[in-house]
Amino acid sequence: MVKRAFFVTFEGIDGSGKSTQARLLADRLRELGLDVVLTREPGGSPGAEEIRRLLVQGAPHRWSPETEILLFTAARRDHLENTIDPALAAGKIVISDRYADSTRVYQGVARADLGGLVDQLHHLMIAREPDLTLVIDMDPAQALERGLGRNSGEDRFEDFGLGFQQALRQGFLALARRAAPRTVLIDGNRTPEVIAAEIAGIFDRATK
Ligand code: ADP
Ligand code: TYD
Repeated sequence: MVKRAFFVTFEGIDGSGKSTQARLLADRLRELGLDVVLTREPGGSPGAEEIRRLLVQGAPHRWSPETEILLFTAARRDHLENTIDPALAAGKIVISDRYADSTRVYQGVARADLGGLVDQLHHLMIAREPDLTLVIDMDPAQALERGLGRNSGEDRFEDFGLGFQQALRQGFLALARRAAPRTVLIDGNRTPEVIAAEIAGIFDRATK
């Protein structure tokens, strides 16, 4: 495996197993002696973590879809400037639990039909795409149960309900098809170990 900058993201509905898989991939690469930055969105830098609290707590309709796009993009810009870009410039592997595809699907498709606005703002303010994106697919009813079982106090998006999660799933499936080969669809309905082994193989092929 070559030691060079590489940017990989995990995407999927709430509770699909992204954080678990991001951590397992980071652990494996660190064991191999690679320099890994494991980060997340919304958040991943001090400023973006402050914006995160505004986004994931409180009543579901606290923000309009348009305001949400601006807040997520502001958080992402700070994350990019302070965490992602410096790590990539130093030749590290960056693993992010969610990134721009979440805005494309949550704000661009599921909350409102604002895909054009999301794309324009991304182009203007972010413009960096990951090298590889693992889209974890799974049954929304099961994922919702997993997510709410955590009692994290960060359930604003889960509180939109099952219909919203189903729209998200369709949005992620369409995105995974549209953005291939950058995006790879992963069946999340298996044990964490089996999924991690598949992802390890995909990562190795993408970086060789
Ligand atoms: P996400 O980051 O997508 O919200 P998490 O990785 O936090 O999802 O997983 C949500 C919950 O489901 C956690 O309690 C986690 O331990 C559990 N979990 C994750 N992956 C699996 C899996 N493959 N099978 C069963 N449970 C899982
Ligand atoms: P996250 O903490 O990853 O939630 P989970 O672990 O439940 O998957 O993200 C918080 C919420 O923010 C999540 O419901 C998805 C949402 N979100 C967006 O709506 N747009 C975005 O651009 C991002 C990054 C997240």
